[in-house]
Amino acid sequence: MNYVTSLKSASEVKTDCLIIGVFNKNNLGIAAKNINDVSENIITKLYKSGDINTAIGSTKIIHSAKNIKADRLLIVGLGDKDSFGRDEFRRVNQAAMNAIKNIKLSNFANYLFLDEAPNTKDYYKGRHFIESYFSSIYQFDQLKTGIKKINPIIKKIIIGISSKNNSEKVKLGCTHGQAISLGSKIAKDLGNLPANVCTPSYLAKESKKFAKIYKKLSVKILNESMLKKLKMNSFLSVTAGSKEPAKLIEMHYKGAKNQKSHVLVGKGITFDTGGISIKPSAAMDEMKYDMCGAATVIGTIIAIAEMNLPVNLSVIVPACENRPSSTATLPGDIVKSMSGQTIEILNTDAEGRLVLCDALTYARRFKPKYIVDVATLTGACVIALGHHRTAIMSNSDELSDELMNAGDKSNDLCWKMPMGREYEMQLNSNFADMANIGGRYGGSITAACFLGKFTRNMKWAHLDIAGTAWTSGAKKGSTGRPVPLLSQFILNQSSIDI
Ligand code: BES
Ligand code: MN
Ligand code: ZN
Repeated sequence: MNYVTSLKSASEVKTDCLIIGVFNKNNLGIAAKNINDVSENIITKLYKSGDINTAIGSTKIIHSAKNIKADRLLIVGLGDKDSFGRDEFRRVNQAAMNAIKNIKLSNFANYLFLDEAPNTKDYYKGRHFIESYFSSIYQFDQLKTGIKKINPIIKKIIIGISSKNNSEKVKLGCTHGQAISLGSKIAKDLGNLPANVCTPSYLAKESKKFAKIYKKLSVKILNESMLKKLKMNSFLSVTAGSKEPAKLIEMHYKGAKNQKSHVLVGKGITFDTGGISIKPSAAMDEMKYDMCGAATVIGTIIAIAEMNLPVNLSVIVPACENRPSSTATLPGDIVKSMSGQTIEILNTDAEGRLVLCDALTYARRFKPKYIVDVATLTGACVIALGHHRTAIMSNSDELSDELMNAGDKSNDLCWKMPMGREYEMQLNSNFADMANIGGRYGGSITAACFLGKFTRNMKWAHLDIAGTAWTSGAKKGSTGRPVPLLSQFILNQSSIDI
């Protein structure tokens, strides 16, 4: 994509579609005022006749404005001028992109950048805008036959800036926005693919493909016999009932010398039936999304590689199915994890922690600066935080603060939940070092405490994305979250000035 900034006034810009904004009470944004002045008060007339609405996010396209060089105008409601900030800027851009996504345009000009949005740096304006552009055109139709909707082929995006704006920062924001959008798209596609396509082997194969595209990226796949040698019996206990071979996927991005690596670990259960502790049938199809932790850490490393950041990042994905069969793990079975600690598997549906604990132990060999695992781990998390925020649980306030901050900056929100000895005690077992479940109450926290037993002496955080990784209902689909949060987190760890 070609991003160009323009110092031309709105009426002078030649484009297929010019985007301008109007605040409540017909308070015209800078570009709208310019158009209104040259075009016989067209905006004021439309406002008075009720043809345009200024409520935040309303949109109207018109084709006939005099004395302007654009073929059409997209007029966007900006809401109250006094409360127009970062969030509002993002919302109006999203609305604008949704309004033009089905029109055949070869370029458009966004002149919403001229209006001030307090507390929003030029870089973030560029980023949020481009992320909303790519999210508006996302579609998943690779498994549909028949005529497919073709995306408009936008070749150029023009961004109207005033001399006060920093053109370089706007463009860097756009480029990073495009990289993060690519990471999100990869995560969404992997998430949306059904379990009969997106198997552990498929995830491994796709990861290998990425290593061919980015030269700073290398990929290694461990098969079941290697996992056995590493004594990953906890991970292997989950795949015991499935014919699909389990894989441990390792991806390493080397963008810096002599720097500690960051490590991301993603839960890659390509389908979670619950195993012998089988789940009820209602909405069980959604358990194809149980590999969204994996999808998002893979998406993130691609976003980082695409941005070519001067950091080192590794991604570890334990991938397998959780299914019942005559070889499946039984409730009450006890396994010895790679760490040497033994686990009584009281519920085979609490499998995420069983694959993650061995992956976290394995990750120690990379001596990470920070280690973050990402998992659709508990239904309890959805009860606690709903679908809006990802839960963070951590043994390091420094790390959880960094993640909270990254969530804020990237508008991919999260919230910190507690951990502690009281919760950890719920995992006590009569027969092994720990049980894999801690009872009904505080289910997300006891799951995190379980993982905490495998991350001692590392700065670790756990992100439970059970509520945020996908949407149910008519708009069922993967969200790609938390690729923006994780990308921002790594970006903040780099020396890049944004
Ligand atoms: N993948 C599920 C968690 C999940 C369930 C995420 C529904 C999103 C929606 C996980 O493996 C699981 O089954 N967890 C159990 C844990 C319980 C057995 C302690 C759960 O949450 O019910
Ligand atoms: Mn489960
Ligand atoms: Zn699961």
